[in-house]
Amino acid sequence: MAVENTFTMVKPDGVRRGLVGEVISRFEAKGLKLERMRMLTIDREMAERHYGEHVGKPFFENLVEFITSGPVVAMEWSGEGAVAVCRTLMGGTNPAEAAPGTIRGDFGLVIDENIVHGSDSPASAERELGIFFG
Ligand code: RTP
Ligand code: MG
Repeated sequence: MAVENTFTMVKPDGVRRGLVGEVISRFEAKGLKLERMRMLTIDREMAERHYGEHVGKPFFENLVEFITSGPVVAMEWSGEGAVAVCRTLMGGTNPAEAAPGTIRGDFGLVIDENIVHGSDSPASAERELGIFFG
């Protein structure tokens, strides 16, 4: 396993609920290194770029409305296997089924509001880091 950089983001529900510190703490406690961080509100164009793979899916409109509904905290993390490690700490997409001990498993209940995003591959990480920090 090699050192990787990945993109993660506290979504608008996580920011509204005051979970930014909790998310950062978990990634830091795991040993990952915070490289870059910025707070911003995503507009529709940026949302469509970020979630381009989901254009046309039934949940897409709802997803764009949600992700643009308030500020997010965008972050770059580095470390051994950082892409998969962040996804493991986040838990499964649907918080109702995510394992206890994960961020989504501990703090979420419904799939539309699952607190945190993390890149699903090194290629996605590169693409998403370009969108948010490029
Ligand atoms: P994310 O991209 O946000 O980190 O989440 P993920 O990889 O775990 O899940 P993904 O398949 O990429 O889906 C992106 C977001 O769309 C919403 N979603 N809703 N109603 C549904 O069936 C459904 N499926 C996905 C979720 O909020 C998910 O985070
Ligand atoms: Mg995804």
